Amino acid sequence: MNRALLSDLSDWRLEIDIEGIAWATFDRQGESANALGRRPLEELMRIVERIEQGARDHEVKGLVIVSGKEKGFIVGADIREFDLLTTEASVIEAIRPVNAMLDRIEKMPVPVVAAVHGVCVGGGLELILACHYRIATRDEQTRFGFPEVKLGIFPGFNGTARSIRQTGPQDAMDAMLTGRMISATSARAKGFIDQLVDSAGTLHWAARRAVLERRHAKPAPAAKMLLARWPARSFVAGKMRDLVKREAREAHYPAPYRLIDLFESHGGGYDAMKAHETRAFAPLMVSDTARNLRRVFRLSEALKAQAPKDLGWKPRRVHVIGAGTMGADIAGVAVAAGMEVTLQDLSPEVIQKGIAAQGKLFARRFKTKPLRDAAKARLIADPEGRGLALADVVIEAIVERLDVKQTLFRDIEAKVKPDCVLATNTSSLRIEEIASGMANPSRLVGIHFFNPVAKMPLVEVVRGEASDPAMIDRASAFVVALAKFPLVVKSVPGFLVNRVLAPYMLAAMKRADAGEDIQKIDEAARAFGMPVGPIELADTVGLDVCAHVGKILGLEGEGAGGRLERLVSAGKLGKKSGEGFYVWKDGKPELKLETYNEADLERLGREIVEPLIREARRALDDGVVANADLVDAGMIFGTGFAPFRGGPLHYASERGGPHGERMAAAQ
Ligand code: NAI
Repeated sequence: MNRALLSDLSDWRLEIDIEGIAWATFDRQGESANALGRRPLEELMRIVERIEQGARDHEVKGLVIVSGKEKGFIVGADIREFDLLTTEASVIEAIRPVNAMLDRIEKMPVPVVAAVHGVCVGGGLELILACHYRIATRDEQTRFGFPEVKLGIFPGFNGTARSIRQTGPQDAMDAMLTGRMISATSARAKGFIDQLVDSAGTLHWAARRAVLERRHAKPAPAAKMLLARWPARSFVAGKMRDLVKREAREAHYPAPYRLIDLFESHGGGYDAMKAHETRAFAPLMVSDTARNLRRVFRLSEALKAQAPKDLGWKPRRVHVIGAGTMGADIAGVAVAAGMEVTLQDLSPEVIQKGIAAQGKLFARRFKTKPLRDAAKARLIADPEGRGLALADVVIEAIVERLDVKQTLFRDIEAKVKPDCVLATNTSSLRIEEIASGMANPSRLVGIHFFNPVAKMPLVEVVRGEASDPAMIDRASAFVVALAKFPLVVKSVPGFLVNRVLAPYMLAAMKRADAGEDIQKIDEAARAFGMPVGPIELADTVGLDVCAHVGKILGLEGEGAGGRLERLVSAGKLGKKSGEGFYVWKDGKPELKLETYNEADLERLGREIVEPLIREARRALDDGVVANADLVDAGMIFGTGFAPFRGGPLHYASERGGPHGERMAAAQ
């Protein structure tokens, strides 16, 4: 029989068993996941104190830290509380007691063991690194990582020093600089974890044994630690800087650079690294970049929240019609998300080709052969459309022709289940018109994916004038089930993303027509923080597609007529035909060797995004999405708009007045 050691905790339970082993179970009250917010940390401090006392009194033989949640261990510090810390001093003050507590865990006279099942990242990983021994389940769900860089910071609970001590500089810095998730097996190989067990059921016994045998993790072997010595450390730091430079600019994302500086200066000593970590961490935590990246995190949550959680409906079977560029990949992501998919096309060869093309995605997503085989078995060629009758969601991705789509929906409407979601992936036709021939037009919604489907996180859920709200809810839930972000948009030409993006791209082409250097235009957009420049983006999307989008948005006057039109009529469609604005070789545009003045690029970059911001504001005024945050979310997740700037409307409002009126008026 276990006995409670502290009975007034809310987020933890602390019990002692008959063998004298104390079990601290983290089960945050009222939350589905365990985040290390202020209250759970304060309670953990009390637990540490109680265990110290128990150890002194020979009452407690050891402590095991486990999670009370079925799925996750610890998702990290509580991001929702970060905004309360507005000055470096307040950050330092908040961190100091936590780090002192972790030191006390480390110095505990009895063994402290972490027993992990489920995700353990950020502050959670830092906590277990302060324990004496770490056991984890060999489970798909058990994963480790330091995602802090994605929030503009790096580990701040002394995880920098402790991860280097346990795994060596290479693996620790790699984890912290990339933010990548690490499987349990790989975490064991690297040294983050000391022991693996097969299932959550055996975790308890393994932890008990580790305490009774007083197991203690070994630090990284000396060979791994050679890289922490001078001058090897400086050499390694240089290499890391080169790698990071390829991914992110220092001015936009300083965190990885500061982490490398910290390692270079202090990575040779455990205590020095710990001491300097907080000093380097605090300014990052209160920086604009970190604040805006936290905003991006909140926006992603807001997008997911558009899908009601309690629908009592789950998409299990999906039928996709059209196995071309989009349809096959949509089928692929649905299968990767665990759904069963039937794929239909006029041509059986196209279906086979579309299915074969998903092999790469499955290989990436599923690490074992049985899982890959199961995925293949869930993707079924269905030339006759037998899957229609069983489907929970039907997605049409056939040729972009109104009459063909109308006929299709008229024909399939009677064949599907009454509660099945009927969706079109159209990018330019009106939902209302496609639905016009249906017996019940309110059934049709748009589910607009972006190309390439597997990579793009956003999916627009299009609400036609007559669309049934229940179907919009289901379509959004389906998108969330695909692990993507839904954005509910009004049925207007270009929906949100293409409508806002098009004027920006066409304006850039107009600059090119006026003789501006296209490479400089693209470089300026990147200097602003866009993932690719507008001209390269146009070439990548396909100039025929750009011209078409321009037309449906009534923007022929903007960039069309000029080089865009000439290139399209000459069959120079961009990347796919080998030439557009750029000449393309091996999937890359040929660039001339050129360096530009930074100040020039900065000024030009701000000018180039102006049309995007203006259109974003208009889209908001027209009610294309429900609020300004959703406009920003759509542009960040749909186009990669500079995340560290927090979205176009946020950026505009930051630089002056609500939505940047001050700037706009000054122009
Ligand atoms: P695609 O031309 O690659 O594929 C269309 C496929 O549909 C072809 O394999 C064709 O055989 C098949 N098909 C035509 N009529 C059919 C019918 N009645 N029944 C069954 N199959 C039929 O076209 P893509 O690019 O995949 O586009 C499909 C839809 O997705 C279009 O509505 C397009 O506007 C939209 N879309 C395309 C994007 C892109 O980047 N390609 C992005 C977002 C939406």
